[in-house]
Amino acid sequence: MRVLIVYDSVYGNTEQIAKAIGGAIDGEVRVVRASEVDAARMEPVDIIIVGSPTLGGRPSQPIQEFLDKLPATSVKGIKVAAFDTRYSGKFVKIFGFAAEKIAASLEAKGGTPVPTQRAFIVTGKKGPLKEGELERAASWAKEIVK
Ligand SMILES: Cc1cc2nc3c(=O)[nH]c(=O)nc-3n(C[C@H](O)[C@H](O)[C@H](O)COP(=O)(O)O)c2cc1C
Repeated sequence: MRVLIVYDSVYGNTEQIAKAIGGAIDGEVRVVRASEVDAARMEPVDIIIVGSPTLGGRPSQPIQEFLDKLPATSVKGIKVAAFDTRYSGKFVKIFGFAAEKIAASLEAKGGTPVPTQRAFIVTGKKGPLKEGELERAASWAKEIVK
């Protein structure tokens, strides 16, 4: 199984989640930063997983650019999954979150979402991640490839 995990990360928390997801999947797994992928020239894969920090209720700019450039032909009919890192709490809900926007973009290009998007909680702007989030990421990864 060929799996591509594309992430962005300012303070390293989303990167840790991306690597935990990648580490839990057997197969040909690539974990790459969005700024290092040429979305227009992608090798075919079976699953694309995209994750971003939530910044102002949205994915980061490198993730948005990756999604904008990603051709529908690279996504159509393959499994797609989205995740983000975010604060917990009611206040931030007003702005929405990155994962739902990533998922919507991947689905609009014809990807098959599996299973629902995931949120991983940071306890402050720079982290750290809430306890147990890396383990939760690994078990989500197992669900995705099931
Ligand atoms: C400028 C800025 C805006 C942010 N906006 C939100 C937000 O709208 N909602 C939220 O839940 N978290 C927000 N956060 C918290 C980030 O999601 C958090 O810093 C991020 O998960 C850290 O991930 P990283 O270590 O991979 O960069 C914001 C952080 C920054 C620096």
